Amino acid sequence: MAASSSLPHHVPTALTLLFILVSATTTNGSIGVNYGTVADDLPPPGEVARFLLQSTVINRVRIFDPNPELIQAFAHTGIQLTVTVPNDQIPRLANLSFAQQWIKSYIQPYFPATNLVRILVGNEVLSTGNRLLIGTLVPAMQTLHAALAGASLDRRIQISTPHSLGILSASTPPSAGKFHGGYDVHILKPLLGFLRSTNSPFMINPYPFFGCSEETLDYALFRPNLGFLDPNTRIRYTNMLDAQLDAVFSAMKSLGFGDLEIVIAETGWPSKGEPSQIGAGQENAAQYNRNLMRHVNSGDGTPLMPNRTFETYIFSLFNEDLKPGPTCERNFGLFGPDLTPAYDVGILRPTTNGDSFAGGARRRRGKEGGGKVVCGERRGGCGLATEEY
Ligand SMILES: *[C@@H]1O[C@H](CO)[C@@H](O)[C@H](O)[C@H]1NC(C)=O
Ligand SMILES: *[C@@H]1O[C@H](CO)[C@@H](O)[C@H](O)[C@H]1NC(C)=O
Repeated sequence: MAASSSLPHHVPTALTLLFILVSATTTNGSIGVNYGTVADDLPPPGEVARFLLQSTVINRVRIFDPNPELIQAFAHTGIQLTVTVPNDQIPRLANLSFAQQWIKSYIQPYFPATNLVRILVGNEVLSTGNRLLIGTLVPAMQTLHAALAGASLDRRIQISTPHSLGILSASTPPSAGKFHGGYDVHILKPLLGFLRSTNSPFMINPYPFFGCSEETLDYALFRPNLGFLDPNTRIRYTNMLDAQLDAVFSAMKSLGFGDLEIVIAETGWPSKGEPSQIGAGQENAAQYNRNLMRHVNSGDGTPLMPNRTFETYIFSLFNEDLKPGPTCERNFGLFGPDLTPAYDVGILRPTTNGDSFAGGARRRRGKEGGGKVVCGERRGGCGLATEEY
């Protein structure tokens, strides 16, 4: 499908039809997207919500803070919205009256007009190394749940928290996946217990992009490759995401929580990066996200979780020009600020108007900012040791 990026504005009908067909076959099932707003050039939230509803197959959206304007923008769209509590709010949420106030301010005015389905208490909290945040994470989740129950919303709205794969001390081979011991397990056990008792999913942010090398690029992108044999199970893994998911599953199972649903809260691939960065680029980003959607919706599951589907949120909806750090951090977006696709990934709704599709393939570039965050920060637990590949 790479050819679409060079299409002229008015493409012949036959070609247009071909794209529509390909697009339609790759968009079965559902897909979520992370809607980050660290940018100064994004369209108004109302326009974004209408666009997602009318022009894409995206039916779930996660936002990174309880921004009333964003929550309101999704009213009457039916799109399932997940709201994140910023990390710095976590300690206060362990206080029931604060939690009740929070639900009153950020949830009740908008529900059910906005289809709020989940609240995420922080993001990658265990990886912050901040003892106060980590220590108050589970109490905050419990208290927020009690506040939801008090408002009779606990059966409508779930509570969870996403983790980086840095929570794994071992991820290779996948059957040997383990959480870090000590303090982390001390937190994770009650956390998993809370999720089970509230029928909520365990959420993770796997990024094969940050785990791959020249040798494992095909493995990370779901392309044909020799794969990697798990000597314990004799299972051959042919893509890194499966290995990462199964490593998480093994870790959960070893604590007695193999039954919990796993949700992919973030995953993605940058369409642009530093020259030294393996794999960044439009073709690969399109391929990763396209193959990802097909895979998580296929019902094939993973070797250790056969037949499961995984609710998945691509990172990210937009290129975000104000994000600090290296180039890749600003270029995870599926769309440019003018809502043209950054590349053809097959999430636009089948349409008889091929123009926007072809025209949109010529992507606009966002502005670049400076910064200091290193792209590899999400690298934890890539699920593959290259020598075993
Ligand atoms: C708990 O939250 C309420 C409401 O925000 C606040 O008035 C109270 O001081 C808090 N209590 C503690 C112990 O922080
Ligand atoms: C997965 O689906 C296949 C085909 O429908 C079936 O034969 C198999 O028993 C299922 N496996 C599990 C673990 O449910």
